[in-house]
Amino acid sequence: MSAVPQRYLITSALPYANGLKHVGHLAGAYIPADIYTRYLRAQKREVVFVCGSDEHGTAIPIQAAKEGVTPREIIDKYHEAMKQDFEDLDISFDQYHRTSEALHHETAQEFFTYLHERGELETKETEQYFDEAAGMFLADRYIRGTCPSCGSDRAFGDQCETCGRTLSPDELINPVSTLSGQQPVKKKTTHWYLPLGKHEAFLRQWILEEHQHDWRATVVGQCKSWIEAGLQSRAVTRDLDWGIALPLPDAKGKVLYVWFDAPIGYISATKQWAIEKGKDWKPFWYDEQTKLVHFIGKDNIVFHCIIFPLMLKLHGNILPSNVPANEFLNLEGDKMSTSRNWKLDMRDYINDFVKPENGGKQCVDMLRYYLTQIAPETKDSEFTWKGFQDAVNSELVSVFGNFINRTWVLMHKLCGGKVPRLHEGLLDEHDRQLMEEIRKSKEHIEGLIEEYHFREALFQVIDLSRKGNQYMQRKEPWILAKQLAEKPELQQLIDNTMHLCLQLSANLAILINPFLPNTAKKMLHMMKVVDRMLDWEHAGKLNLLSVGYYLRPPELLFRKIEDEEIRIQVEKLKSGTVMIEKNEIAASVTTKKESVMKPEIVFDDFAKIDLRVGKILAAEKVEKADKLLKLQVELGEETRTIVSGIALHFQPEEVVGKQVVVVVNLAPRKMRGIESNGMILMASDEAGKLYFIQPDQAVASGAVVS
Ligand code: MF3
Ligand code: ZN
Repeated sequence: MSAVPQRYLITSALPYANGLKHVGHLAGAYIPADIYTRYLRAQKREVVFVCGSDEHGTAIPIQAAKEGVTPREIIDKYHEAMKQDFEDLDISFDQYHRTSEALHHETAQEFFTYLHERGELETKETEQYFDEAAGMFLADRYIRGTCPSCGSDRAFGDQCETCGRTLSPDELINPVSTLSGQQPVKKKTTHWYLPLGKHEAFLRQWILEEHQHDWRATVVGQCKSWIEAGLQSRAVTRDLDWGIALPLPDAKGKVLYVWFDAPIGYISATKQWAIEKGKDWKPFWYDEQTKLVHFIGKDNIVFHCIIFPLMLKLHGNILPSNVPANEFLNLEGDKMSTSRNWKLDMRDYINDFVKPENGGKQCVDMLRYYLTQIAPETKDSEFTWKGFQDAVNSELVSVFGNFINRTWVLMHKLCGGKVPRLHEGLLDEHDRQLMEEIRKSKEHIEGLIEEYHFREALFQVIDLSRKGNQYMQRKEPWILAKQLAEKPELQQLIDNTMHLCLQLSANLAILINPFLPNTAKKMLHMMKVVDRMLDWEHAGKLNLLSVGYYLRPPELLFRKIEDEEIRIQVEKLKSGTVMIEKNEIAASVTTKKESVMKPEIVFDDFAKIDLRVGKILAAEKVEKADKLLKLQVELGEETRTIVSGIALHFQPEEVVGKQVVVVVNLAPRKMRGIESNGMILMASDEAGKLYFIQPDQAVASGAVVS
């Protein structure tokens, strides 16, 4: 291993303060960074771990419009909520800052001014999309169209969320304004650009040469295709009224682009940390002896590996040593999605699991365990509730927890609750083998963590406890105990086994600590030792617990996840999407009092929806989904299967023969494994009762509704 850096600065992507974050985010950018930081702290290295809320960009005012409040209210609400989520899941930031702070505004403006004054930015007058109805230029999320890369028609002006590609509005096919739904016109405006092309040689050298082996292949690969596609100048300013004002005269109505200011948030967060701790922030950003590591999800690669590093270089700062980006985490067979409500929010997990009657903090560790075990380090991976249950029950409970519990129960039973001594002369091959495993594990696991292979590192920790179980199984001290009356000398063999199992337990506490800090804490309590024992330097040692020392009785480290809990979660996930569907429909008819009117649309928006009269020919309940009915609906020539969330309101036999209005061009969607090809319109009253929408007289099915 190369020389140990003098200090570390660890960052996790600043989450947008426009909504709650889900476990995909947690697995991608927060848990890995937290593991790494906790490991470095245990190594007694100087480390600062920063993050904060990303509070600019078009996502914020758009969310504000949706919720009918001001952007300020949005960022305040979500900043607090996200901060709380991270705290509840023990993500141990040294500083969780926010980009709306004055300190950040000044820092970002200074950064821009520095680059501007040194002539590192270009100014250009170009024609950009403008919405005449809204009287606004359309940046980023205010414009949408078809992705030139994957053909999705939901791409935004800054990024296609379907394929992850970074875009500019000009690349969109059939662009429309998300404000008015109209086709935008072009209008002249001046902006400042970061000329990436000018620095191609540096970027190629730095990423594709220097880091081609120590960065993840997925990261280098994405950078390579970006560079190869031709580096265009990137605008770092926008015509918007939400963001950091350009620090230039005659730049009214212009702000810094959110992706220019947000990563500078890492610097302002470091400054804020330094202010609060009475430290100097400068070495963290200027001294080559600092190791800077950015933890992000794959959609942020270009910004953290190309654009921000170039900004840092031009500003005289150090560059990141590594950017261990993760791929995406899917959920129960589908992409996580906020708009379709197909996700597991951190908050929902906290509410359902992290409460005293459910095991409290041990549930935090159970989630951290599963998310690390399935971390999408090299390719997309998948969260399933069954997988969660299996990981907890058959690894945490049955392997790790079981080993610790057996060790404690037996040492209280067979050794009087004290750490027994080791009789060196009696050590056999199995004892020596276990001792060797303990000694070796430190270096092995530390090597994996240093290389950001957290998944494998955690596997090795669990595997070490598995070896402990096998060892104990081979030694069977409880059998020896039965023969003690005749052969009292067997106590020495029992002592040896229990001594080694206890030293292994102490080692496991140290090794598991970066991953599952609550578990390590509980083990410390059982061992009656102080925090210092968890210092990494103690790993691999065989004398961590002193002979003759009394230990506390065992506590359960993890509990089993019951089938019922899993069933409820899966149901919740699936009914969540049904709820959304129902809301989509219901809002058109619900009484004003309880529903906020949706924003105005133009005729073209409405005209996209193909509505037809249909007739329900058959209906049946969907197994294990009490809200769903599977319907066969006749629509003129064809008959379609439609799954509808109305089963709590109607019996199947009540709906057969009814005429209904159907959205027939809605993309098919799977519910409970059944493909639903359309949506039935329903009205709902204040009490939530549902009513069919029907023609006032029977018409031929397939008739157009418009
Ligand atoms: N808010 C961005 C996102 O959620 C990430 C910003 S990371 C930073 O995708 F570097 F800009 F801070
Ligand atoms: Zn795309």
